[in-house]
Amino acid sequence: MRIEAFKLAPSILAADFARLGEQVVEAERAGADRIHIDVMDGDFVPNLSMGPAIVESLRKITRLPLETHLMVSNPDLFLDEFAAAGSDSFLVHWEGNNNLHRTVQRIKALGKRAGVAINPATAAAVLEEIVQDVDQVLVMTVNPGFGHQHFIGTTTSKIARVRELVERRKPGCEVEVDGGIDATTAPLVVRAGATVLVAGSSIFGAPEGVTAAMTRLHAAIDHLEEELEPAEQSAL
Ligand code: DX5
Ligand code: ZN
Repeated sequence: MRIEAFKLAPSILAADFARLGEQVVEAERAGADRIHIDVMDGDFVPNLSMGPAIVESLRKITRLPLETHLMVSNPDLFLDEFAAAGSDSFLVHWEGNNNLHRTVQRIKALGKRAGVAINPATAAAVLEEIVQDVDQVLVMTVNPGFGHQHFIGTTTSKIARVRELVERRKPGCEVEVDGGIDATTAPLVVRAGATVLVAGSSIFGAPEGVTAAMTRLHAAIDHLEEELEPAEQSAL
């Protein structure tokens, strides 16, 4: 693995929706790599969140890529609308999708980046036959549906297995994690092989503000770049 910079993807699920634009602009200025948008349909997960209107509004105020995490039972139904609204990438779940390859091809046909997400109880091995078709994989480090949950510690060994699979089958594919990521858990997932970190409440819910929260998260992981790179490169 050649490590570039670790990337932060603030999840607006934890934002103050009355000040959403302001908070996203602050995250962009503080060095966010992309904005993570959690879409929930009350069926795939027991919660409702947001739709394409949010993407359309954010598209006007930020140049950052808008990453759309579809926690919905039928993602194919919504791809066109989100793409038209300005989504740059889609994360779709392996769970419950009998035609995942087709969904991924539809995303690519729209000219968007595609990623596959797996829940905490799903094995890394399910990615074996789809990883070569995607730009990123997302390892859920909480059960999807809610922000501000506790990081599930047993997912770190799975992140390592996903990293190994990616290096073997699709080097360059990003390994991203989502759920319970803060300055304490971020080093654990980075050491396990993640390079893109979604963080909601530890950024938008931080009492000290978005910029300070992102600085703290970067400080927790950026020094690991030197620690990890030589060992990983000698393994190439
Ligand atoms: C959970 C969502 C996450 C959520 C993470 O279903 O996919 O993106 O916003 O929130 P935190 O960082 O608060 O755990
Ligand atoms: Zn998410």
